[in-house]
Amino acid sequence: MRIDILTIFPEIFSGPFDHSIVKRAIAKGLAEIHIHNIRDYSKSRHRNVDDYAFGGEAGMVMMIQPIADCIEALKERRNYDEIIFLTPDGKQFDQKIANNLSLKENIILLCGHYKGIDERIREHLITSEISIGDYVLSGGELAAAVISDAVIRLIPGVLNDETSALSDSFQDNLLSAPVYTRPADYHGWKVPEILLSGNEKEIRKWQMEQAVTRTKERRPGLISE
Ligand code: 6GU
Repeated sequence: MRIDILTIFPEIFSGPFDHSIVKRAIAKGLAEIHIHNIRDYSKSRHRNVDDYAFGGEAGMVMMIQPIADCIEALKERRNYDEIIFLTPDGKQFDQKIANNLSLKENIILLCGHYKGIDERIREHLITSEISIGDYVLSGGELAAAVISDAVIRLIPGVLNDETSALSDSFQDNLLSAPVYTRPADYHGWKVPEILLSGNEKEIRKWQMEQAVTRTKERRPGLISE
């Protein structure tokens, strides 16, 4: 899978993808992330990417030309399954959307800024819009990093059996059961006895009960949805 991220702050991405599972996925050739500086596509004298809003509203608006040219340049080279604009008024990201995106070949993530982007980009170039939650970020970059991480770890072959996504919270609309490692007794803080029993069947049953109890307590909406 290939993810192209369009941003005016490419430096933000020189961290989130260089570690752990995402790094390994890229090293294995299972995922590619390409960062594009929208400013590189600006045709204005001062490499501007934003301009005053029509109608006199305060705040700058990202203009069409650099973004359109960047998207067009990418589309000339390959077909994109989705061109996603990251915006707080988009559809709220969840595990279902992540699963869905993990099956795609090529996607573009467009990070917005300032008061927003010229609406005509959304009308004519964007195929879907995603938010990562009901709060406002200064830009779409952190959202793009969140989405890329959540999606890449689901690509077949990225996780091994031990890190399998199948037992993730949310994967079956349940939160995960608690986990423990050695020592079994830390100054009197004990690991639940059942986990030390060696009884595989009882352990799985306990974990499922824990997951259900946790979900009911913390996120009852997940079960009734
Ligand atoms: Cl995708 N962008 C911005 N700027 N803020 C957000 C968001 C995205 N999702 C939640 N808040």
